[in-house]
Amino acid sequence: MSLPPRISLQRVCKQFAGPTSAALDGDVLRDVSFVLSAGEFVCLLGASGCGKSTILNLVAGFDQADRGEVLLDGRPIHAPGPERGMVFQQPTLFPWLSVRDNVTFGPRMSGQTAQQYLPDAERYLRLVGLQDFAEHFPWQLSGGMRQRAALARAWLPNPEILLMDEPFGALDAQTRLAMQELLTTIWQTIQTTILFVTHDIDEALFLADRVLIMSARPGRIREELQVPFERPRSLEDLVADPRYGQLKRNILHVVREEAAKSLVGEPA
Ligand SMILES: Nc1ncnc2c1ncn2[C@@H]1O[C@H](COP(=O)(O)OP(=O)(O)OP(=O)(O)O)[C@@H](O)[C@H]1O
Ligand SMILES: [Mg+2]
Repeated sequence: MSLPPRISLQRVCKQFAGPTSAALDGDVLRDVSFVLSAGEFVCLLGASGCGKSTILNLVAGFDQADRGEVLLDGRPIHAPGPERGMVFQQPTLFPWLSVRDNVTFGPRMSGQTAQQYLPDAERYLRLVGLQDFAEHFPWQLSGGMRQRAALARAWLPNPEILLMDEPFGALDAQTRLAMQELLTTIWQTIQTTILFVTHDIDEALFLADRVLIMSARPGRIREELQVPFERPRSLEDLVADPRYGQLKRNILHVVREEAAKSLVGEPA
């Protein structure tokens, strides 16, 4: 049974104006098409500069496509909305606010009372393991803890769709794995739809239902593959599964081909 599409990109093209060299003129995205179904976890994988963040920005409504359509439930996306949350690569917490005040910043600014937002805020602080650090300031936290606070902040308004731009890219391998496990646990509990950008093939295979591999600039969806592993997943089980090595090898082959193209395309 196929689920209804929430997000749909149809032949999306995007260029950026500005002071750029001839080698970088033209489309950043060209004819990008894919759908994101309700409750799905999709990873967008591709070389640096292929347009992954550009896609997230279009879906978030921070920017507009030049051609083609970016749709939410069949309607064009023109602006950000509360049903779409974003987690950036850097946690972007306000240094002068406590963890709790950072996490509750959105609802407070939209005029909700503490009674309305605090029960959920405490729940998410517990889910990400920061209940004892709610009064701490960001500079008193480790990198992984800061990213967990950013995750709780993104989840508090209960977005139906979460857009994540390499959120664990700056973390060490152990913290990253702990965050991946935490993310899949929360995702399964509250059934958000996630579009997650990563460079990391292992991360994509651990997290995703489906992986979209992008080409080098101009970015397109070059391959799309279903990840067959059952949930809940453990890294130990995955690496022992012969399909894991095979899938990783196939993806690596495509990613390296595209990375080589993007290096050839770099200006001298
Ligand atoms: N606002 C902008 N103005 C001009 N050029 C931009 C703008 N945003 C992105 N670009 C260009 O578009 C291309 C794609 O950028 P984007 O940030 O989407 O890549 P990416 O795939 O997310 O890369 P990375 O993996 O390094 O984050 C780059 O060449 C970048 O310079
Ligand atoms: Mg990016």
